[in-house]
Amino acid sequence: MKAVAIPAFGGAEVLRVDEFEVPEPGPGQVSIDVAYAGANFAEVLYRRGVVDVPLPFVPGIEVSGHVRAVGPEVEGLRPGQPVAALTIVDGGGYAEVVVTSADLVAPLDGLDLGLDIAAAIPSNSTTAFLVLDRAARIEPGETVLVHAAAGGVGSQLGQAARLLGAGRVAGTVGGPAKIGTARGFGYDDVVLRDELPDRVAALTGGRGFDIVVDMVGGPARRTSLDALAPMGRMIVMGNASGADDVGVSANELWFANKSVAGFNLAAFSGAFPADAGRALRRAVAAAASGDLRLQVEELPLDQAAEAHRRIESGATTGKLVLALRG
Ligand SMILES: NC(=O)c1ccc[n+]([C@@H]2O[C@H](COP(=O)([O-])OP(=O)(O)OC[C@H]3O[C@@H](n4cnc5c(N)ncnc54)[C@H](OP(=O)(O)O)[C@@H]3O)[C@@H](O)[C@H]2O)c1
Repeated sequence: MKAVAIPAFGGAEVLRVDEFEVPEPGPGQVSIDVAYAGANFAEVLYRRGVVDVPLPFVPGIEVSGHVRAVGPEVEGLRPGQPVAALTIVDGGGYAEVVVTSADLVAPLDGLDLGLDIAAAIPSNSTTAFLVLDRAARIEPGETVLVHAAAGGVGSQLGQAARLLGAGRVAGTVGGPAKIGTARGFGYDDVVLRDELPDRVAALTGGRGFDIVVDMVGGPARRTSLDALAPMGRMIVMGNASGADDVGVSANELWFANKSVAGFNLAAFSGAFPADAGRALRRAVAAAASGDLRLQVEELPLDQAAEAHRRIESGATTGKLVLALRG
């Protein structure tokens, strides 16, 4: 089968299409004929070598397609069934065939959902629900601030917050061109990230936000902490800016009644596959019913390097997916 591999860590140019053996599912697994593979910031990090994996490595943490074969001890899934799936525990989504745990699969039968959209759900939409529900433990009416609100995961977090009962939902973006896009994803307020410190009081009536989700890092991490209300929670879930880590003073948290938590979908899916699968199926249902809007742009698999370049430029909005069979 064809797959895009990372033969050596480096820039986007290291990605190359190669031939691999078709993987077979083991106990509790299924193999999937991939129609589309989501392209994410996560694969850029794998490609750069931020995550130490044996090489060559086929990246790709999510796919849509049809079940090809079902391993022993799998119930409720059958060959030919349309599915969306997380392939985040072992990677391998940029391929014609991928194997993953049956726990991390969402059936699509009977749903009004294209396979291109379905490929964009497993990572970002599932993460959005889990970050707010499990890490931030959102309560009805709470205010939420999300950074990079027009991006892949940012576009899903505001909508998931609303579905989970949030009150006002605000987003930040890096530049004015993305303000309209973020608003289109349902954010009540959208501000430039650089202007956030001056805007928090007006946005929250002087109280601060109950929840701030930061996947940008660097200066945004410090302003996120400052923007929290008493008993507020900052969720750290990425470092898209590539800045050095930002230290947080435990004493500051103590004196100001603030909390900081982290969320990582790969580690969560490895530790709690059944919970990750439930959140995936919830996200799929929300997208199919129209409660969750996704914006998808398609590129062919052999343009994976171009997808990575665009993601690294920070200029994309919504989600890029790589087409294998359309
Ligand atoms: N922890 C998890 O489980 C998990 C799951 C999904 C995603 N993530 C993380 O969330 C972040 C966003 O992922 P995504 O898939 O949504 O990617 P994305 O759509 O490409 O969003 C990244 C956004 O970050 C902002 N950004 C700020 N500085 C940047 C820089 N130097 N280079 C590139 N982008 C920069 C840009 O938005 P502005 O123009 O608005 O600044 C950019 O659009 C990544 O850090 C990713 O690792 C984590």
